[in-house]
Amino acid sequence: MGNTTIKEVRALQVLDSRGNPTVMAEVELCCGIVGRAMAPSGASTGAFEAHELRDKGKSYLGRGVTKAVSHLNTEIAARLKGMDARDQAALDAALIELDGTENKSRLGANAILAASLGAADGAAKAQKTPLYRYLGGNGATRLPIPMMNILNGGAHADNNMDIQEFMILPHGAEDYPTGLEWCCRIYHTLKDLLKARGLSTAVGDEGGFAPQLSSHIEAIELILAAMEKAGLRPGEDVALALDAAASGWYQNGRYRMPKCQEEFTPKELIAYWQTLCSRYPIRSIEDGLMEEDWEHWPRLTAALSPAVMLIGDDLFVTNEKRLSRGIHERAATGILVKPNQIGTLTETLTAIRTAQQGGFETVISHRSGETEDTFIADLSVAVNAGYIKAGAPCRTERVAKYNRLLWIGRDMAKEKSRY
Ligand code: PGA
Ligand code: ZN
Repeated sequence: MGNTTIKEVRALQVLDSRGNPTVMAEVELCCGIVGRAMAPSGASTGAFEAHELRDKGKSYLGRGVTKAVSHLNTEIAARLKGMDARDQAALDAALIELDGTENKSRLGANAILAASLGAADGAAKAQKTPLYRYLGGNGATRLPIPMMNILNGGAHADNNMDIQEFMILPHGAEDYPTGLEWCCRIYHTLKDLLKARGLSTAVGDEGGFAPQLSSHIEAIELILAAMEKAGLRPGEDVALALDAAASGWYQNGRYRMPKCQEEFTPKELIAYWQTLCSRYPIRSIEDGLMEEDWEHWPRLTAALSPAVMLIGDDLFVTNEKRLSRGIHERAATGILVKPNQIGTLTETLTAIRTAQQGGFETVISHRSGETEDTFIADLSVAVNAGYIKAGAPCRTERVAKYNRLLWIGRDMAKEKSRY
């Protein structure tokens, strides 16, 4: 048996950033190294995501994951024992086959993902290789641009904003640390502006502020004011990015924003996005339409691209089949990548490769329920993703990803100086 042979897989129920249980897997190799990974959890989940298994019992208000943990400790552990942790494709194929369902509902995608990522973590450690280099090889050369959510609404906050995420994107920064500093400067300036107006500076699930405002326009104008006050040029140094999460707005062929109750036909909603994009420096809109509105996504894309990126989150759910359809139908121009939407690392990498080959932008993303796990930071570098979405520079489960990227950047610079 080699060093990287899996000796044992065990799991533990731990907590995510909302105080809900989630799954941690430990993958112990014969060399004694232990790989670890924790599954994140969404709130505005897409209908076509892999299944997150919850107990539905009394404990933790039904949100316990002891069944998923038990599957890891028994069936999954037995299946993976003796396999080589470096053979990710074989491991993931074994997990998919063992589960036997289309959406990983029998064992739970939370259990499967934790095992899949935990094996990769263990294999990288055993080879004394940083995870981004283990996953990406010499091809991993750049850090992503943050798409940083600084104002929260929708399902992530109890305020009256229907758009779920108002993000800033420092595309004019010469490098990652500079872009990160700009974002933090804007975030703090926005806090001062909110305070000065007597508005709440309490934060939502992803660490962005969640004030009650009169409209989306007011939210956008506040952010633009914060950019300017922070000494940055809206549109030139920093742009806006929105995640509408509009699947939650759809009812019988129409879109109704649940909080303000404004109603749109699909055509009117496309016109609404066009108006916003013509007035403000918006560089990206995610889920501007719902996950099954294949008829209108290509129209939205034709209306706004290439000036604006149209990113599919619920639309694609990191699923290569849905993504291929989207590329073929020109339904969007980019994909949001969330490993837990599909459930294994191999399938995640396949979706990313398909996106890159199809000329799509890739945005590696956290979930609104997160942990201290920083796998997605390494993943974003491994695949040279254009962007990473990891929330506000507030709440350690968000900051952990940004810090990991600072650390990777420093290590990559050191590596370069050696040659
Ligand atoms: P979720 O939100 O993790 O609650 O799904 C993130 C997103 O929609 O991008
Ligand atoms: Zn989204």
